[in-house]
Amino acid sequence: MRYKKINRQLFIENRKRLVKELKPGSVAVFNSNDIMPTNADGTMKFRQNSDLFYLTGVDQEESILVICPDYPEKKMREVLFLRETNETIATWEGHKLTKQEARERTGIETVLWTSEFHRVFNTMMVMGGVENVYLNTNEHYRADSVVQTRDSRFIAWCKEKYPLHRYERVAPIMARLRAIKSKYEIELMQKACDITATAFKRVLKFVKPGVKEYEIEAEFMHEFLRHGSRGFAYEPIIASGADSCVLHYIQNDKACKSGDVLLLDVGAEYANYNADMTRTIPVNGRFTKRQKDVYNAVLRVKRAAYTLLKPGMVYFDYHKEVQKIMEGELLKLKLLDKTDIKNQSPEKPAFMKYFMHGTGHHLGLDVHDTGNMFAKMKEGMVWTVEPGIYIKEEGLGIRLENNVVITRNGLHDLMKHIPIEAEEIEDLMHSA
Ligand code: GLY
Ligand code: MN
Ligand code: MN
Repeated sequence: MRYKKINRQLFIENRKRLVKELKPGSVAVFNSNDIMPTNADGTMKFRQNSDLFYLTGVDQEESILVICPDYPEKKMREVLFLRETNETIATWEGHKLTKQEARERTGIETVLWTSEFHRVFNTMMVMGGVENVYLNTNEHYRADSVVQTRDSRFIAWCKEKYPLHRYERVAPIMARLRAIKSKYEIELMQKACDITATAFKRVLKFVKPGVKEYEIEAEFMHEFLRHGSRGFAYEPIIASGADSCVLHYIQNDKACKSGDVLLLDVGAEYANYNADMTRTIPVNGRFTKRQKDVYNAVLRVKRAAYTLLKPGMVYFDYHKEVQKIMEGELLKLKLLDKTDIKNQSPEKPAFMKYFMHGTGHHLGLDVHDTGNMFAKMKEGMVWTVEPGIYIKEEGLGIRLENNVVITRNGLHDLMKHIPIEAEEIEDLMHSA
């Protein structure tokens, strides 16, 4: 792996937390992700199932975790099944985890090959005192994929073979657990943010009129890979000029023009954990007065948002308050006037013309991480804070985004070392 060995205590403690949430007489099963196809015999880069990774640290395809806390034999209460390697696999794909390596990485004593799965699982189901079967589904509130995962194939198989067991959803439990980050996870996320910071500083010196958006993308990638990241946490948005107002612009194919802003929504992945940063910079190294006024308005909203994020807050209430603050800034910028506010409909308030997205989301093993958006915020949660103002009629979009941990003593900003003041950005751009 490119990342440094992770303290296996992370995975041991995560499994302990999961076991506490299961009903007596239960089994829980987690499958790895498939290696997804492209065309012909091509494949995408492998991305482990986040829940399986969270519970094991195994970053390998065709792996299965079974947790059966009340199984009579202690050593079978946690079993990891792995793809058995052979000479052909070793020749073409290289090294796969040995049982001993997997034990060391995960802290799971019983590691078997997947060829033994059906026999072992059947014994658990019919003789292991199992009544409840917890299976994993992708219940992210914005997931709309039609792809059948290994987990969903397993659900179909399991329910057909064992129709009279009781089936339970493990996803709400995983969402609750994963929303609260441990100190090990915060360290990994800090590393992802640090790599992002280094790359951003490199880019500040690189950007000038005429440079292509994809050249900037390459600068980020260069720095990410050099530091043990496997690449972008998500498709990077490198949007100059009017495209700074296109929220999901990913073409990144234009030359940057003097006088335009450049919106960079880019984050590094590290050990499957993610950073999610946005900065907006002037292509020629100096913001115009108008750009700076809008920039500072967004920065003030971001700072105000920080004061609201605390344990007990509910995202939607927080978002409403941020929208109110944004409305005030839009009035000051004369983008809205009192009449716009008076005539607005509750379904489509006036500020939505310029600030039409959320203020943030959970961040972790997934960029839009699991976590119930209606639940109260708690210590240990990591949220993005990402207000923006998008003025299509001026071809000017500004967004600023940091990643913060909610703690008992206020916010811990994982991106506090990433330049954000307009003048600081300008100085760094001129210090090449
Ligand atoms: N980069 C994705 C987001 O900001 O939500
Ligand atoms: Mn982002
Ligand atoms: Mn984000």
